[in-house]
Amino acid sequence: MSKRMTAAVAALVVAAGAAMTQQAAAQEVKVGVVLPFTGVGAELAQQIDRGMELYLKVNADQVKPYTITLIKRDSKAPDGVAAKIAVQELLTQDKVDALAGWVYSPDAIASAPVVNAGKKLAVIMNAATSFITNLSTDYVRTSFTMWHSSYALGEQAAKTLHAKTAVVVYSDYPPGRDSLEAFKNSFEANGGKVIDAIPAGGPGAVPDFTPFFQRAKDEKPDVLFVFVPAGDHASAVVKTYGALGMAAAGIKLIGPGDITQDIKLQGMGDAAIGLITMGHYNADLDNPQNKRFVAAWKKEYGADSTTDFTAVGGYDGMAAIVHAVQATKGKMDGDDAVKSLLGWKFDSPQGPIMIDPQTRDIVMNEYLSEVVKGSDGKLHEKQLAVVHNVKDECKALAVGSCAPKK
Ligand code: PHB
Repeated sequence: MSKRMTAAVAALVVAAGAAMTQQAAAQEVKVGVVLPFTGVGAELAQQIDRGMELYLKVNADQVKPYTITLIKRDSKAPDGVAAKIAVQELLTQDKVDALAGWVYSPDAIASAPVVNAGKKLAVIMNAATSFITNLSTDYVRTSFTMWHSSYALGEQAAKTLHAKTAVVVYSDYPPGRDSLEAFKNSFEANGGKVIDAIPAGGPGAVPDFTPFFQRAKDEKPDVLFVFVPAGDHASAVVKTYGALGMAAAGIKLIGPGDITQDIKLQGMGDAAIGLITMGHYNADLDNPQNKRFVAAWKKEYGADSTTDFTAVGGYDGMAAIVHAVQATKGKMDGDDAVKSLLGWKFDSPQGPIMIDPQTRDIVMNEYLSEVVKGSDGKLHEKQLAVVHNVKDECKALAVGSCAPKK
């Protein structure tokens, strides 16, 4: 071969190599995941993380020809500080194509300015304060808002449980205030009265609920409505309710599904029996998608492991990301990726879900359930009623924290 020809062949080889590298790069989509892998939210982070990973494993064919690489960062305490730094690093150093995660609302609220600057699709897989999606047009939520469950429960508490009076105990931070606002709005619109609203600590540490619940007990309401973030907070709520003999005193404990999170349910013991919740998911939901989801979960993570509403937030969120990857042919330009999810529909283990094109928030069913003891000796969720196609009413009605600023 002449010298000229050798040089030409070498140039061709280099060009082909570069094209292949470029193609490989275009086919790899990097997703930055921000979850509290340590601290009070560690169990919730694990559930969401497992939900995401399971979606990718079970639906490997849907992902092809792309490869999704998850880059995971710890958001630590639920105060927004570490989450915001993590988002910044993922965008500027790791150059991720999309973001995902956020268990606690303060983390998603603090991250919003950085998400805005980064202009990448950001899928919220748990954080549930309604107005979060108003803080960035890059936010799309596949989890829930407290308004979905608490507003629907306010109506059912009045109409189905025939409650006239309620005391509300809530973790005093944005989703707790939303939950109070939502429940009060619909309970009172349906003839009920919230006779007291008691702030009870925050998400960072589990408080002793005894003084708050004792005050509620002394007020003798028909129902005690409680919002606390899922996890150890929920276990403590049910334990305190049992210890104070509130059921025997005729006060029914009700709340969003967060207080009967499946991974905590068996540990709550008989004090949980009779508890009534409104939520978008529980492991007992009887539909084919959920049967498959629960079976795949147990196969992957062990017979004693269980799915819960946080897990399904991760699973559905990953389904949304995969949809956006396919729709943008792996490019994941922020605007296009978000646009591809407006009106997106998915047959989730929780039932049919859709992303509302106006609000980028989820539309889904809410299930009214009662905790019962099954013939297997375990606690289960018995379905009492379904409310179909529930929107985030905070934004739909423009009330509470979603009211226009004066
Ligand atoms: C939240 O901080 O938005 C949050 C956390 C856990 C929940 C619900 C809401 O169970």
